[in-house]
Amino acid sequence: MCGIFGYLNFLVERDRRFVLDTLIKGLSRLEYRGYDSAGLAVDGDTEDQTFIFKQVGKVAALKKLVDTQEIDFEKSYISHCGMAHTRWATHGQPSQLNSHPHRSDNHNEFTLVHNGIITNYKEIKTLLEKKGFSFETETDTECVAKLTKYLYDSQKNSDITFTDLVKMVVKELEGSFAFIFKSTHFPNEIVATRRGSPLLIGVKTAKKLKVDFVDVEFGNAPDAINIPDKDPTGFMDPTEGGRPQMNRSLSRAFMSEDGMPQPIEFFLASDASAIVEHTKRVLYLEDDDIAHIADGELHIHRLRRDDGNSPATRSIQTLEIELAEIMKGSFDHFMQKEIYEQPESVVNTMRGRVNFETHKVTLGGLRGYLSIIRRARRIVFIACGTSFHSCLATRAIFEELTEIPSQVDLASDFLDRRTPIFRDDVCVFVSQSGETADTIMAMRYCLERGAVCVGITNTVGSSISRETHCGVHINAGPEIGVASTKAYTSQYIALVMMAIQLSEDRLSTTKRREEIIDGLYRLPGHVKEVLAQDANLQKLAEETLSKEKSLLLMGRGYQNATCLEGALKIKEISYMHSEGILAGELKHGPLALIDENMPVILIMTKDSLYPKVQSALQQVTARKGQPIIICNTGDDNLIRDYKTIQVPQTADCLQGLINIIPLQLLSYYLAVLGNIDVDFPRNLAKSVTVE
Ligand code: F6R
Repeated sequence: MCGIFGYLNFLVERDRRFVLDTLIKGLSRLEYRGYDSAGLAVDGDTEDQTFIFKQVGKVAALKKLVDTQEIDFEKSYISHCGMAHTRWATHGQPSQLNSHPHRSDNHNEFTLVHNGIITNYKEIKTLLEKKGFSFETETDTECVAKLTKYLYDSQKNSDITFTDLVKMVVKELEGSFAFIFKSTHFPNEIVATRRGSPLLIGVKTAKKLKVDFVDVEFGNAPDAINIPDKDPTGFMDPTEGGRPQMNRSLSRAFMSEDGMPQPIEFFLASDASAIVEHTKRVLYLEDDDIAHIADGELHIHRLRRDDGNSPATRSIQTLEIELAEIMKGSFDHFMQKEIYEQPESVVNTMRGRVNFETHKVTLGGLRGYLSIIRRARRIVFIACGTSFHSCLATRAIFEELTEIPSQVDLASDFLDRRTPIFRDDVCVFVSQSGETADTIMAMRYCLERGAVCVGITNTVGSSISRETHCGVHINAGPEIGVASTKAYTSQYIALVMMAIQLSEDRLSTTKRREEIIDGLYRLPGHVKEVLAQDANLQKLAEETLSKEKSLLLMGRGYQNATCLEGALKIKEISYMHSEGILAGELKHGPLALIDENMPVILIMTKDSLYPKVQSALQQVTARKGQPIIICNTGDDNLIRDYKTIQVPQTADCLQGLINIIPLQLLSYYLAVLGNIDVDFPRNLAKSVTVE
């Protein structure tokens, strides 16, 4: 989804070419999130000028447009603020006009980039139109730029600060957002804010920072800028209200140790992958933080008066990702790299948590909540897409080990149903990004109802990891390919580990836990065995499946989730219709699809349901179906009679971790054969931050 990047230099001389290149590189690191157009804004030749460049299509097309401008690329700045954006269209087609940055007027007095959706934009737009504003785009964002100008013009004589102006604007907005604001009225200043969409700020200095936190500056009046409540039209009367009353603190962090302002660069971004090559020192903004950067200092204000619960500082943390992790290296695509990383990523998920000798699991992030979770009346797993499948894949082992009734819900449906949630429920939110809008809304819904909320995410600092009571980071490393692969296997393992730890007080399940932990120990080797079949899978994709229009995947029990996840992978990146079918349901409908022409993959690895899947095989072959069978190595009857993909056998509840690998590879090769941009499939985004 939309990506935001901002770059500010202070007392560090940079020319325009450097600034533009930095912005464009920042955008290219965000490309994986999915987008359809891109744009940026930098200072013009005079203080009252802002240059905006926008282009439909790839960041490379924007770069081309910028490179052909007749501007002075050598112009140098001691202090400068630039911002950039990749857009994933929600309101209005992908077009140059609809791309961000958006502006308040023809003179670009206020420009901004936005990630998220403003749900009350129509009301704001109608009102501004009545005030004489005309709009040039179909977006929800443009009304925010125009609203900023409207409020600024109304306050003109009061020396309003940029921070207070943005506060006034944000107070009028409903929906989710991360914004960066820039203005010719406030040269070399940037204000950034967020609510529901991620935004972090990287800090780069040559000298050490004095402290590693930033004080939050709370207003000392009931409302930080004393603005009256909304008037009936939806806007406050900007002529009323007193002067801003802020607790101005020294921004201690940004002095050098000798107490002097120091050369400094700031990088703002929707995610860490755009920042890590510049600096590892980052600060995550909280919802309703208003960050103001000027004169080399970062100040964090709150939109409203402190409710007593917000922490008084934001810590400057150290990113733990390496640049190499977000580069493709020798692989053709990120997806391929990430599939191949699984022998290591599964180990990273278990590292320091599973003791293979004592057969013990310790998840530090759940400490303090284990006994509450064990007493839960029910566990509700809530997620979207692939993350939902990881919950489905592990529900049975949860129920078996914990004996707590468990349900798995798609976040959007969970919200649509307004599912009853009680204080003695435990709700588990699984999300690779930790920023999926539907999952976040479901989490907030459950928090409001007093349930214990557990987060399982791959993104440290994400909304889900910050707002849940406790949780597990899956530590799979950054996943850039839109199709989730290593995050799926790591989420699956994190959930299995959670089930094991929750049941450690149950003697009756000791043997079962030991069997699973032994299986986890062998897992990296098993994954490698499957990856070694890469060439065969490529051949199968090429010779048998690539010309097909449709592909059915069937299995039951633990393998139902594998079928659903495999079908999702195939459809999302190869655009081939694919459906996961619970084999027990065949005769209740899907069997009608079967004939000698319908491609079928049947998962028949050995577990207690094997005889039942055999009967599904018979139902398919009796209709002249010719299934490809995923079976265990050594299952000679199947290997003799059918086209097979052979995988090593493990504990039933872990078999899905191994069975999904050939399906990931098949989907990858089907996409490559179809000449599809594997890492950027059409219409999809990596991080789905809108409803
Ligand atoms: C598919 C895929 C998506 C995501 C879904 C939820 O390959 O990646 O289905 O799983 O959009 O995203 P997260 O896990 O970030 O909440």
